Amino acid sequence: MEKDRRRSLGKAAIGGSFDLIDQDGKRMTSEDLLGKWVLLYFGFSHCPDICPEEMEKLVKVTDMVEKDPDLPPLLPLFITVDPERDTPAVVKAYLKEFSPKIIGLTGTQEQVHAATKAYRVYFSAGPKDGDNDYIVDHTIIMYLINPEGEFVDYFGQLKTAEQVLTGYTISVAKYNALKNNSWFKL
Ligand code: NI
Repeated sequence: MEKDRRRSLGKAAIGGSFDLIDQDGKRMTSEDLLGKWVLLYFGFSHCPDICPEEMEKLVKVTDMVEKDPDLPPLLPLFITVDPERDTPAVVKAYLKEFSPKIIGLTGTQEQVHAATKAYRVYFSAGPKDGDNDYIVDHTIIMYLINPEGEFVDYFGQLKTAEQVLTGYTISVAKYNALKNNSWFKL
């Protein structure tokens, strides 16, 4: 199990620390999330179709997790790739369309860049039209982060909420097995 863990950690140079601002304008860093399982999605509030679907999936997964007494709670986390338009107030209004449980983060261009770089998220803003509107092309992936703040799994757009739930269940079981194992060795 330990070997398995080291192998997967070696493979996964994904994830890392971030320092951002939440929808209430308060600073939130990756350290603040230690101790929690987190399902992280990068997107932007003006996204016409894909992000809304992914946000609904994010909520569906966390709701299913909540109904399963055997699973630890899962925190749905959204980080914008469009900090120019997604101010804390805009993020707050956007999250209201989905669930009050989601935490939404934004920041300066530099802060957001650092977060996307850590997760190897690609994003690129397209040209502005006459109304100053633009589309941001971006990676569509959900990242699972364990209570130690480590990236453990990812789920692409084609994964259903049920498949993400299965992935979460497996990751939690592995994590717990490893914890119990190292506890016995102490
Ligand atoms: Ni999108």
